[in-house]
Amino acid sequence: MCGIIGYVGPRPAQEVLLNGLERLEYRGYDSVGVALLDGSQIQVAKQMGRIAGLREKLAAAPLAGHSGIGHTRWATHGQPSDQNAHPHTDCSGHIAVVHNGIIENEAALRQELIAGGHHFRSETDTEVIAHLIEEADGESLSDAVRAIRQRLRGSYAIAVLDTRHPDEIVVARNEAPLVIGLGEGERFVASDIPAFLPYTRWVVPLEDGDTASLKRDELVLWNAAGERITRQPYVISWSAEAAERSGYTTFMEKEIHEQPRAWRETMRGRLAIVSPRQWELHLDEEAPKPQEWQRLHQLFLIGCGTAYHAAMVGGRFFEQLARVAPTVDLASEFRYRDPIIGPGDIAIFVSQSGETADTLAAMRLAKAQGATTVAVTNVVGSTLAREADRVFYIQAGPEIAVASTKAYTTQVIALALLALDLGHQNGQLNPERAMALVQALLDLPRLGESLLDQSAQWEPLAAAIANASSAFYLGRGLDWAAALEGALKMKEISYVHAEAYAAGELKHGTLALVEAATPVVALITQPHLVEKSLSNLREVKARGASVLAITSEGLSKAVGEVADAVLVLPDIDPLATPVLAALPLQVLALMAATLRGNDVDKPRNLAKSVTVE
Ligand code: M6R
Repeated sequence: MCGIIGYVGPRPAQEVLLNGLERLEYRGYDSVGVALLDGSQIQVAKQMGRIAGLREKLAAAPLAGHSGIGHTRWATHGQPSDQNAHPHTDCSGHIAVVHNGIIENEAALRQELIAGGHHFRSETDTEVIAHLIEEADGESLSDAVRAIRQRLRGSYAIAVLDTRHPDEIVVARNEAPLVIGLGEGERFVASDIPAFLPYTRWVVPLEDGDTASLKRDELVLWNAAGERITRQPYVISWSAEAAERSGYTTFMEKEIHEQPRAWRETMRGRLAIVSPRQWELHLDEEAPKPQEWQRLHQLFLIGCGTAYHAAMVGGRFFEQLARVAPTVDLASEFRYRDPIIGPGDIAIFVSQSGETADTLAAMRLAKAQGATTVAVTNVVGSTLAREADRVFYIQAGPEIAVASTKAYTTQVIALALLALDLGHQNGQLNPERAMALVQALLDLPRLGESLLDQSAQWEPLAAAIANASSAFYLGRGLDWAAALEGALKMKEISYVHAEAYAAGELKHGTLALVEAATPVVALITQPHLVEKSLSNLREVKARGASVLAITSEGLSKAVGEVADAVLVLPDIDPLATPVLAALPLQVLALMAATLRGNDVDKPRNLAKSVTVE
């Protein structure tokens, strides 16, 4: 998983590429490089480490040229190193390639090319692409790239420069994202839109199988069948600043604080109370149709990581509101377990990026077996959004930090809206129950804002976890799903070992790990489970644990009698509490990571968008 940028136009390309790479660094950051075409010569600068290092090097020895390609890498084939950093060149030095994805038949191709006299300089799968293009016949670079695509197996987004075709970049996409930006007399290509947003808002997304030739005033596209095609550009409404940090120290902090606004966006134009006893839900054109809900056979909710936790919460919504018990699954498990799925089934795929490899594969499997597939995603034009039968955009705005925050809570709200819709369509919705939840959902932004206003007070609570080597997160029912997400957030960025358990499960083994001063974060927001949860708190307290309880105002007195510290959420309908509870869980993780001196936005070993299996 890597970030690609390409530029052809009148500007000095070096700055455009470096700026773009900085906006793509969330996709991978173990090494970085650029190739610029100046007249008849390609010059490459690449090295291990982050973009700031390359920027420094190029400030001292700039590269000239008005077209170029750049890459920020997250290693898959070959260790992070200067040699393995992209771009990669052919033997002659005429061709430079950047690539995101994995070429599965790399070993066979490499052997064949070496036997044919090619000399390799890296361990990467990407380098075979440069040598294959060198071998290919073709009048034009686009001919050559289209010809060698037949030889490649696996996922790839590539951008290619060739000294014999100056002022042109050729790009190709297969199961890895790539978008083109159209400026006045200039063309951009990138793995994600923010990379070129300071220069243009006009975007053409590529489909799997597409090849494109980009020149200053020209864009030529071919589809997988080799036919010349046109695709309608669309305009991006969010600004370049929306993708910047807007004064916060980290993107994660900014994105946590953006949540109340994001929740409003998720519900805007969709959910409203129109009279004291009446609410209305208007889902977009692309959302599941009433007749699809009405003939529902089985429901599946699928995602990875945080998106899976949102699906877990969503599963409870469908059960409570529509009396349908969905199968909630991890995409990486679902796709290999030979699931029983067919026409009449609806499978909802939750993914911020819409590019997660396992989620896409699971969606394609469900679709091939006849299910109606629904994408709940943030990224317009993402592969999931384009390939699923139906789409529900969570409208969270760009999420840059690797740790998912606003995408999680907006996914939860999106699933609540879909569950309300199904309950309405299948006649299972209890009107009072629904009204209470609708009211709560619409109250969330206001309550979230006031909760975040208190967040500075939580630092001592975070410090207690930051100083520990491991922590437990406990909850029952919806609180268990919230606990799973809280623990993931904590371990992902603070590197404190944090485990979440259904509170009733601890005594079946894991209680053995609880000892004096072990931090335990207990979620207790569901009134019907308070007594049971308090018993579980007493069990860990008896072993010396130090308990922080996150609870609602109405429950805080009873909970405060057992816990060592209490973080109080405003009272709200219990079904909506996972959204509010996410805020302190995210902030505690952020504070613990900051106290430990970690790079909050780019935690070690991780990348924002997991486009490999
Ligand atoms: O883009 P997606 O929502 O499909 O990503 C799924 C997971 O990789 C993602 O949620 C991951 O778990 C987050 N980094 C967690 O904060």
